[in-house]
Amino acid sequence: MLSRIKDIAANLAPRLIEIRRHIHSHPELSGQEYQTAAYVAGVLSSCGLHVQELVGKTGVVGEMLGSGTDSRLLAIRADMDALPIQEKTGLEYTSRQTGIMHACGHDVHTTVGLGTAMVLAQLGETLPGTIRFLFQPAEETAQGAGWMVKDGVMQDVSAILALHTFPTIPGGCVGIRYGALTAAADDLEITILGESGHGARPHEAIDAIWIAAQVLTTLQQAISRTHNPLRPVVLTIGQITGGRAPNVIADQVRMLGTVRSLHPETSAALPTWIEQIVASVCQPFGARYEINYRRGVPSVQNDPALTQLIEVAAHEAWGSDRVQLLLEPSLGAEDFSLYLDHAPGTMFRLGVAFPDQPNYPLHHPQFHVNEAAIVTGVVTMAYAAYKYWQN
Ligand code: NI
Repeated sequence: MLSRIKDIAANLAPRLIEIRRHIHSHPELSGQEYQTAAYVAGVLSSCGLHVQELVGKTGVVGEMLGSGTDSRLLAIRADMDALPIQEKTGLEYTSRQTGIMHACGHDVHTTVGLGTAMVLAQLGETLPGTIRFLFQPAEETAQGAGWMVKDGVMQDVSAILALHTFPTIPGGCVGIRYGALTAAADDLEITILGESGHGARPHEAIDAIWIAAQVLTTLQQAISRTHNPLRPVVLTIGQITGGRAPNVIADQVRMLGTVRSLHPETSAALPTWIEQIVASVCQPFGARYEINYRRGVPSVQNDPALTQLIEVAAHEAWGSDRVQLLLEPSLGAEDFSLYLDHAPGTMFRLGVAFPDQPNYPLHHPQFHVNEAAIVTGVVTMAYAAYKYWQN
């Protein structure tokens, strides 16, 4: 079976590269993936899948029906959106949309999703269970997965698989991570409320800027003293506004930031912990505060059995020198975690680095991918899907 999957994928390679370049040159921003979705729906229909459009706003769902001898339903997820970045790769198939670029490899993810459907359709064999392909919008804004889930795409799903391109892993290699893959990412807004006054008479005012400075340094120091260093927390205040004039004491300072963590228990405790620190700094000086802590996406926690399914499939397909066990998670965020509230799943890393030229990080205007990775992704995903019902 593996050699048949590899043969079909190898024959499809030129077509897959064409698909990827088409998507790459026609990028669309989060929530506006109309053309991409129509294109995806067209390819899925041509493979004989049952296709539903406008799921989760601009998402597409394609179902490949199994024989029904196994009731377990497998979902495979890809994301379709691009970023507000002006492409500077100079490639012949560069973005035709000014200021919009597939700089996070979602063009590859979509192509691998389509390629997996094409390969499995060409196998000419009915699988024991159904595969539901999810092409979601708006991953970059961490909204799309939630929209898809709300529209019921996780109903009856027993397991879900996904991949993400990775520019520090060689093209053609697969990165496997057990446990936490990405971080929980929450938004933090703290407003310090003091009392205005003359800059020369601080004792008659409550200086919100000075208190905000104490809050910021206390938060950063307290993280290292009160959290288990093996369970990381990153708190970044990226924006501060406050004050009106050099000689007027500010009555208000607003701080905006992001909070990242890996362990669900740590994540759960963070809002209370932050409030305690802010309160302890403000109270002695008579300042008040408002905290708005908005939950973003949770951490992606890869299921052990499904991670092993991918690892074994990749090992058989490519040999051990093309499979890397990743020792470290990322503190980036990924809305794939929202599906994992409904079924176990796993996401693997697909290496897209070139051996002989500079490679750029995700979200970089020169980010480019080694297209050899597409067949690697398709074979790994299709073979893992095939093996899913053998277990
Ligand atoms: Ni991405």
